[in-house]
Amino acid sequence: ARAPLVDPFARHITYLRISVTDRCDFRCHYCMAENMTFLPKAELLTLEEIDRVASAFVERGVRKLRLTGGEPLVRRNIMSLIRTLSRHLDSGAMDELTITTNGSQLARFAGELADCGVKRINVSLDTLDPDKFRAITRWGDLAKVMAGLDAAQDAGLRVKINAVALKGVNEDEIDGLIRWSHGRNMDITFIETMPMGEIEFDRTDNYLPLSEVRRRLEQHWTLTDIPYKTGGPARYVEAAETGGRIGFITPMTHNFCESCNRVRLTCTGTLYMCLGQDDAADLRAAVRASESDDLLHATIDEAIARKPKGHDFVIDRRNARPAVARHMNVTGG
Ligand code: GTP
Ligand code: 5AD
Ligand code: SF4
Repeated sequence: ARAPLVDPFARHITYLRISVTDRCDFRCHYCMAENMTFLPKAELLTLEEIDRVASAFVERGVRKLRLTGGEPLVRRNIMSLIRTLSRHLDSGAMDELTITTNGSQLARFAGELADCGVKRINVSLDTLDPDKFRAITRWGDLAKVMAGLDAAQDAGLRVKINAVALKGVNEDEIDGLIRWSHGRNMDITFIETMPMGEIEFDRTDNYLPLSEVRRRLEQHWTLTDIPYKTGGPARYVEAAETGGRIGFITPMTHNFCESCNRVRLTCTGTLYMCLGQDDAADLRAAVRASESDDLLHATIDEAIARKPKGHDFVIDRRNARPAVARHMNVTGG
């Protein structure tokens, strides 16, 4: 058997996030610019190549795979990849296969996801107001996402809502989002906006530190820290008023890099060792150079040996260039 992946800071890499496409049917204004140039299809790893890379990671001890995008469910034939990957659940080599989605296509795919052994999914949703939803996503239809959530829960999938906390955009809805999520038996996590890629405005203007959000919540909620862990960066509290969980993903106010367990594969086969760093390894070249996986594993080893200690994000400086030039849809969060 090949050796497990351990980085120079003794962190075990057990979680691979795969952005299967940089495309998305929405264009959230904090995430992407309105006019984005997407990758030509010829640049993409084929689904077979994604499976080969993902399986190499599973062989090296990765226990959790998450498909992201862009929007993962807009990649053609995505369900055939998910079904293929699910063999690692059946064999016991992996604990979790899941996706992070904007929900727009869930009505169509929820049943099949559950059938492939997916147990819980994360759905990005920043507002419950249809007009605001359209404004944030630039043209998204909230009703479609709601239908997707219904389908997911009907199919027996557990759902976690991800909301980016944005000053002047959805800060007045934080309470409402919590009550609504918990009322539907869903966890909710809030995320601090990160400076990734140029957009039309300065993210500093919308930055809302979650330390501040928590302080505000505690004026009328009873929150207790709980040890609930999913393998992601969120720290959870339980709200006594609802019995539900609220997670905080705080790259800016509380750095969680020291317990990082993940690396990221893009749809072109680039491996990023950190969401907030530019250093990368070309796994596509390694996959295409040879039928044997030896070069692929050697390239992965060299990459993990360079995994940085943490990200370089700063958001409290106006007019600063984003720490990384690529947008979130390239690395998928
Ligand atoms: P769970 O399995 O539910 O814990 O999910 P997760 O947090 O691992 O995945 P999800 O796709 O829901 O991630 C939510 C967001 O957390 C991402 O879109 C990123 O914004 C942020 N995030 C996840 N991992 C990292 C990380 O390593 N560094 C930073 N800076 N942000 C991260
Ligand atoms: N900072 C923080 N979160 C972001 N997302 C997209 N762009 C950013 C950003 N710049 C979020 C989406 C989704 C998740 C995959 O990443 O809203 O919840
Ligand atoms: Fe699409 Fe997600 Fe980015 Fe919004 S945050 S544009 S839904 S990839």
